[in-house]
Amino acid sequence: MSNITIFEHPLIKHKISLLRDKSTGTKDFRTLIEEIATLMGYEALRDLPLEDVEIETPICKTMAPMVSGKKLAIVPILRAGLGMVNGILALVPSAKVGHIGMYRDEETHIPHEYYCKLPDNIGERTIIVLDPMLATGGSAVDAINLVKQRGGKNIKFMSIIAAPEGLKALSEAHPDVEIYCGNLDERLNENCYIVPGLGDAGDRIFGTK
Ligand code: PRP
Ligand code: URA
Repeated sequence: MSNITIFEHPLIKHKISLLRDKSTGTKDFRTLIEEIATLMGYEALRDLPLEDVEIETPICKTMAPMVSGKKLAIVPILRAGLGMVNGILALVPSAKVGHIGMYRDEETHIPHEYYCKLPDNIGERTIIVLDPMLATGGSAVDAINLVKQRGGKNIKFMSIIAAPEGLKALSEAHPDVEIYCGNLDERLNENCYIVPGLGDAGDRIFGTK
C-alpha cells in the first residue's frame, strides 16, 4: 500500500468547505485552490533533503542547512491541476514545472492523454503530481505511468478531494507513490463525480461553465 496522508488541519477543512459551496465564484475558487495547495505542500515537502552549506552572516561564517541536490518538479494534470501550481511555487519558487494533459471521456470516464512535457533530469528530482480531484483514479494512475516511463522515481501525488474508489485504485497501481489528500469524500455518483465533492474542478477554476 502507498503511504497515504489525509489532512486533518482545521484551516484545510475550512477552505475545502468554502470550495464546495456552489455560490463560491471563480475568483475565490482559484484563490482557495492555491491556498490549500500551499498548506498541503508545506506538509508534503517535510522530507526534502537538506545539506549544510557555508554562508556568512553579518557576525561570522557558519554552516547552514539548505535544500540539496536536484530540486523539485511540479507536474499538474491539465486542466484543473494548473490551479494548484502557484500554491506550491509560493513555497519553492525555483521548482521546475512539467505538464500532463488528460481529459476524461464524458461517457466512459476513461482518461485520454493529449500532452506530456516534463523537466530534464526528471529521474533525479522529487516530483509532485497535482490534481485537485481523485475520482476513479484513472487520470492519476495514467499520469504517474507517464512520469515513470520518462524516468521519474521519487513521486508524490497531491489531490484536494479524493473518492475512496480513486484512492484505492491509485495506491494499488502505484504503491511506491506517497499520496496526500485534503479530504476523503463518501463515494462516486453514477457519472463518476465525487459526492459531495465540489463539481467539475476545471470548469470552476477556469469559469468554463
Ligand atoms: C478531472 C480532474 C481529474 C479527473 C479526475 O479532469 O481534474 O483530472 O477529472 O477523474 P478520474 O480520477 O476519474 O480520472 P477532467 O478530465 O474533467 O479534465 P479537465 O481538468 O480538463 O476539466
Ligand atoms: N472531476 C471533477 O472535476 N470532479 C469530480 O467530481 C470528478 C472528476
